Amino acid sequence: MQHIDIGTHVTGRRDGNRELDDAALADLYAYPPDLLAPWLRINFVASIDGAIAVDGVSGALGTPSDHAVFHLLRELADIILVGAGTVRAEDYGGARTDEQLRERRLAQGLTPVPPIAVVTLGAALDPQARLFTDTTEAPVVLTCTAAPEENKRRLSDAGARVIEIGDDRITSVEIIDALAELGMPRVLCEGGPSLFGQLITDDAVDELCLTTSPLLVGGLESRVSVSPTSTPRPMVRGHVLADEDGTLLTRWVRPRRGG
Ligand SMILES: NC(=O)c1ccc[n+]([C@@H]2O[C@H](COP(=O)([O-])OP(=O)(O)OC[C@H]3O[C@@H](n4cnc5c(N)ncnc54)[C@H](OP(=O)(O)O)[C@@H]3O)[C@@H](O)[C@H]2O)c1
Repeated sequence: MQHIDIGTHVTGRRDGNRELDDAALADLYAYPPDLLAPWLRINFVASIDGAIAVDGVSGALGTPSDHAVFHLLRELADIILVGAGTVRAEDYGGARTDEQLRERRLAQGLTPVPPIAVVTLGAALDPQARLFTDTTEAPVVLTCTAAPEENKRRLSDAGARVIEIGDDRITSVEIIDALAELGMPRVLCEGGPSLFGQLITDDAVDELCLTTSPLLVGGLESRVSVSPTSTPRPMVRGHVLADEDGTLLTRWVRPRRGG
């Protein structure tokens, strides 16, 4: 994978490009140090023409470098946040681990495995789904008081930590406060588009890691974010990485407040 400095290309000097090893890649994706509040990093993969799924799932969009970054982002995170629609569509299980990964995480002061936190208004998740049955960590269910008691009970019986954080809706602030209370500031949000759309509307996004997969897809699939209203939020380019197969890995961060 090459690190492309767009400025270098614009001025025609290509000697700024360099190959990246695992350590250099990890440095590029490091969370800010000493976080006092949760940092919301969003990760998506899309085709060149903006599709985020093929036949309802994102698997066909993945490339080797996207997979490498996907797993690296999980390795660096305290917790993985995801909307219930994505959990259902992608049949989410718990984050995978192995001995080396556990050791690397422990050495960085992280827990051995990041839990999955799912945001759901109705708590209508299948307790037999992989989220509850194929995991080493108890999933966290962020839901609201209006969700049917029976649904919430089923999920806690299935081993989930069910946390009510709203009355009949859940705001981004309530999500962030819940993650802060869990003591998990390095947040990796893996979508989906409805959750991401709300986070944009509420100006809660600190960072977007977006892979462009070298594919044209067409179809009727959603874009990376959807919300009832458009709310332009300026972002600053963190980096652009290009893999030989055409994959582009970009990182965008929110401009620092007040400067
Ligand atoms: N390409 C990619 O990187 C990528 C990443 C993620 C997802 N996807 C694709 O996106 C599609 C799923 O889209 P989606 O919009 O359904 O995904 P989503 O945002 O994960 O799910 C929407 C659902 O999540 C819950 N939710 C989200 N925000 C909430 C909030 N603020 N408060 C309460 N509940 C909230 C609700 O669940 P309840 O209905 O349970 O109340 C809502 O119906 C799938 O095809 C998936 O493959 C692609």
